[in-house]
Parts: sequence; structure tokens; C-alpha cells
Amino acid sequence: MSNFALLFCFAFSILSYSCTVPKKRNDKPIIGVLAQEVDSPQPQKASYIAASYVKFLESAGARVVPVIILYPGGDASIVSSGYADAARIFYELAIEANSREDYFPVWGTCLGFEELTYLTSRKQLLYKTNTSGVMLPLVFTNGSRESKLFKGFPAEVLDALASEPITENSHEWSLTLENYTRNADLRKFYKVLTTNSDGKTEFVSTMEAYGFPIYGTQWHPEKNAFEWTRPYIPHSPSAVKTTFFMADFMVNEARKNFHKFEDEEVEKRALIYNYNPVYTGNTSVFEQTYYF
Ligand SMILES: *[C@@H]1O[C@H](CO)[C@@H](O)[C@H](O)[C@H]1NC(C)=O
Ligand SMILES: *[C@@H]1O[C@H](CO)[C@@H](O)[C@H](O)[C@H]1NC(C)=O
Ligand SMILES: *[C@@H]1O[C@H](CO)[C@@H](O)[C@H](O)[C@H]1NC(C)=O
Ligand SMILES: *[C@@H]1O[C@H](CO)[C@@H](O)[C@H](O)[C@H]1NC(C)=O
Repeated sequence: MSNFALLFCFAFSILSYSCTVPKKRNDKPIIGVLAQEVDSPQPQKASYIAASYVKFLESAGARVVPVIILYPGGDASIVSSGYADAARIFYELAIEANSREDYFPVWGTCLGFEELTYLTSRKQLLYKTNTSGVMLPLVFTNGSRESKLFKGFPAEVLDALASEPITENSHEWSLTLENYTRNADLRKFYKVLTTNSDGKTEFVSTMEAYGFPIYGTQWHPEKNAFEWTRPYIPHSPSAVKTTFFMADFMVNEARKNFHKFEDEEVEKRALIYNYNPVYTGNTSVFEQTYYF
């Protein structure tokens, strides 16, 4: 299925500035978005990125580089696939970089969230839930208002998130609150910011790492503003503001990263602008898709 994204940050800063004041903010962030393998690979069509993830990041002031999977491994399993292998490499690089105080944020959406639970615990702890195509309000935990992620959100957006069904869920698997609580690795690493339920099972819907800039949402913040193919994608003003403030948070995290390409030519060739999205809204859940 078609629901993923693990976003990674690269960033570019202009070296030729002879300014000696240390820069605290990178206003030219570049964010890597991990492609996912297609179900039936064809030449030039082995992996893809839904264009909504690209628009999401661009809307808040970032540029995107696709992280193209060179060895697609069939379906996007969180344990064994090209997606899982690439995710693990970036996750380990991020842990290593952040441990050296080199700020390297990671964001996981939906399958990316599920992947993070596997990367951190090294266990498959997901449980089937009835959450394929539902809009839900978030249930905030006590710690969420002091969280890195939600701290800067306008009160009206937080109130809307808590009271209106404006988060889109398209997942068959979830990290149950029970499995989170029972697993010491997850419990020590992530703070639960929101939960949801399918009516029977309570699951983690938003989390952030305590000691690392690593974030995950089981729901899809990018869809509200940019995807229209399903009746369960919310488009109300507060739903669309949610898309923006989630993107704004992620891009501000990326602005704290100063990684750069070796030179401007390499950077130019890597950017998503070298690729054209195609219309897929007539056959898939995504209005537009990039294929690689
Ligand atoms: C995960 O959670 C579900 C329900 O909360 C439970 O039935 C299942 O056994 C758990 N799996 C693991 C590996 O703990
Ligand atoms: C799944 O949830 C939907 C509502 O979102 C409900 O209509 C349906 O009956 C549920 N299915 C099961 C098997 O619980
Ligand atoms: C959250 O805070 C409320 C009010 O202070 C308290 O009643 C509740 O027990 C807390 N919940 C948890 C899970 O700590
Ligand atoms: C969907 O749209 C694309 C692009 O316009 C077109 O090439 C394709 O034939 C359409 N597919 C169907 C099943 O209508």
C-alpha cells in the first residue's frame, strides 16, 4: 500500500560567505524524502514519492531531494525491503550525528512511523487495527503541551486537533499503547504525545524522541492540503492549518542542520526539480506521484 514517508534532512549553506559570525539558522534547508518501492516495478518506475510530501515541505520553505531506492525489494516491509534498508542507514546516521551534537532531524509518517518503532526496538510490535481511512481528533497526553513538536503551535490549532476529526489515518497496523508501554526501548526513547483508538485498541498516534530530533505520526499531516481522492481526507480550515504547522515545525528542525552537498552542481542535480510528477489521481490515492 501507498502510505509512507520517512523524511531526512540534508541542508545546504553557502560556504563562500566570508562571514565569521556562526550561523545559528540555515535558511536554505534541503530535506531528503525516502522513496518507496512500487508493487510491480517497471523500467524508470521502480520507486515513487507521493507529490504531497514534496508540496508539504515546500510550503514551509524547504527544498526536497528524493532518496531513490536503488535495490527495490518488493513490498515495503518495515523489516526487509529497500525502503527498510535505506531507512535503517539514515536512522543510524542520524543517531550517530546527533550524538556528536550535529543536529540531524528525522520524521516518519505512517509507514515511516511504523519503521521508526522497528528501528528503535528492533522488534515487530505492530498490531492490526481498524484504521484504514478514518479521520480522528487527537487525544493529547499530559506531556504533549510541553513537547518540542506541539509547543509552538497556535492554541486554536491545538484546540481544533483535540476536538475535530482532522487527522487522516490510512494504516492497518498500529503501535498499541500496551506494546509501547511494555517495550523498554520504545518507552525510554519516545515520549507519546497523542493516542487514538479504533474503538477497541488504543494506539500511539504521535511521538517524539526524548534525546533526539526524531518524530513520528501514524496519521498523515501532508494530505489535508494536498490530496483529494478520498472522502476521508479533511479539508476544513483547521485541517489545512494543521498541514502547515506540521510542515513549519519539520522545516524549522531542518533549519538547525548544516549538512551540505559537496558543491552546487551536485546539489542541483539531486533536487526534486529534476523530476516531473505525473497525474495519478484517477488510479491511485495520490493526486500526483514522482516515479524513479
Ligand atoms: C501488541 O499488542 C497487542 C494488543 O495490545 C497484543 O495482542 C500483542 O500480543 C502485542 N504484541 C506484542 C509483541 O507485544
Ligand atoms: C471499522 O471501523 C468502521 C468505522 O470507522 C466501522 O464502520 C466498521 O464496522 C469497523 N469494522 C470492524 C471490523 O470493526
Ligand atoms: C493527566 O493530568 C490529569 C490532570 O492533572 C490527571 O488527572 C491524570 O491522571 C493525568 N494522566 C496521566 C496519564 O498521567
Ligand atoms: C489516468 O490518467 C493518466 C494521465 O492523464 C492517463 O494516461 C491514464 O490513461 C489514465 N488512466 C485511467 C485508467 O483512466
